[in-house]
Amino acid sequence: NQSYSCYGQHQAGITTPHQPFAIMCAFDVTVTELAELKKMFQLLSQRIEFLTQGGELHDPDPKLPPSGSGILGQTVPSDGLTITVGVGASLFDQRFGLQNKKTKHLTEMPDFPNDKLQREWCDGDVSIQFCAFSPETCQNALRDVIKQLSKFAIIKWSIDGFLPKAPADQAARNLFGFRDGTANPDVSKTEIANQVLWTGVASNSQDEPAWAKNGTYQAVRLIRHFVEFWDRTPLQEQQTIFGREKYSGAPLGMKKEHDMPDYTKDTDGAVIPKDSHMRLANPRDAEFLQRHQLYRRPFDYSRGLSKAGQLDVGLVFICYQANLTDGFVFVQGLLNGEPLEEYISPFGGGYFFVLAGFEKTGYLGQTLL
Ligand code: HEM
Repeated sequence: NQSYSCYGQHQAGITTPHQPFAIMCAFDVTVTELAELKKMFQLLSQRIEFLTQGGELHDPDPKLPPSGSGILGQTVPSDGLTITVGVGASLFDQRFGLQNKKTKHLTEMPDFPNDKLQREWCDGDVSIQFCAFSPETCQNALRDVIKQLSKFAIIKWSIDGFLPKAPADQAARNLFGFRDGTANPDVSKTEIANQVLWTGVASNSQDEPAWAKNGTYQAVRLIRHFVEFWDRTPLQEQQTIFGREKYSGAPLGMKKEHDMPDYTKDTDGAVIPKDSHMRLANPRDAEFLQRHQLYRRPFDYSRGLSKAGQLDVGLVFICYQANLTDGFVFVQGLLNGEPLEEYISPFGGGYFFVLAGFEKTGYLGQTLL
């Protein structure tokens, strides 16, 4: 029954070791007064304290609905739960008078060239990422939040995620069968996290409002994968699409997953194609490494079958960075038109700003509200 503290300078669920289950969702706020919004964040912070640390459910009056869903029993375990809260651009419209406080890069998520965004699967005033060691812990936490916040907000979209098991030194495989996360920056090191993740701390995020310090931008992309089509694609083609060996995860022409490709010795892309996913996503030059890194923390999803009878599966791509334009937006710009696009279709997601962490005496969003 491991627990991760919900307190600290930064919210949990970002540098926390990747749990195997998640629910990613967004809410729209229904109250219209700033004072009510503040109450909502105070209540949400209290629920996060209870759910992530665990505790007993008390139901003194059986004529009232029980205080929790009960699916975890009367003693709610912490079960590695983290709850990570972000705010969307729409929270900064005229309703709460927060227009002048919006962080610099926050907008609604626009359509990229290969996107077929369904607006009911996009954006929202508040994003919540639940991650835990079991799906039922995520489900219990989501139901608690929906119920407790019902006077303040309604859920807009929600998707369940999972992450296949992998040995500690290997990245987990995605639904295309490739190891995913190999070249992620090691944000367990404070110095790297400070440069890649934390707004107001990283050198490319010094122009943000003071309240945003120690938060981070969250880019969420719901990306369907056409796996039947993928499973009929030759292995060699699959590998040139990603630029890596399928089973070992090594860069093409190399032996081990964590071997470092050297593009200066392969300028014409004879070994690792120039339009492969990994080479486009990180050209590994000094400018890129200084300004454009992001930290990926994705999950797979499976929703049964589509109306056309194909598997409705894919990736809940989630990435974090101190500067959204330098991070996700820039890298997605490099990936536009990549050969992988034939096998994927982004249909939802959004941009959110994950609030700084909170302490026992405070609440989430305290510096904003
Ligand atoms: C690398 C899969 C979408 C950014 C990789 C790798 C795989 C992969 C297998 C190589 C292993 C690794 O280093 O992790 C996918 C799949 C996607 C997807 C299946 C969804 C269809 C994206 C998106 C972005 C992105 C939307 C950002 C806009 C990156 C980056 C790397 C990477 C930065 C590391 C490249 C390096 O440093 O060598 N991805 N990816 N990926 N991907 Fe993706």
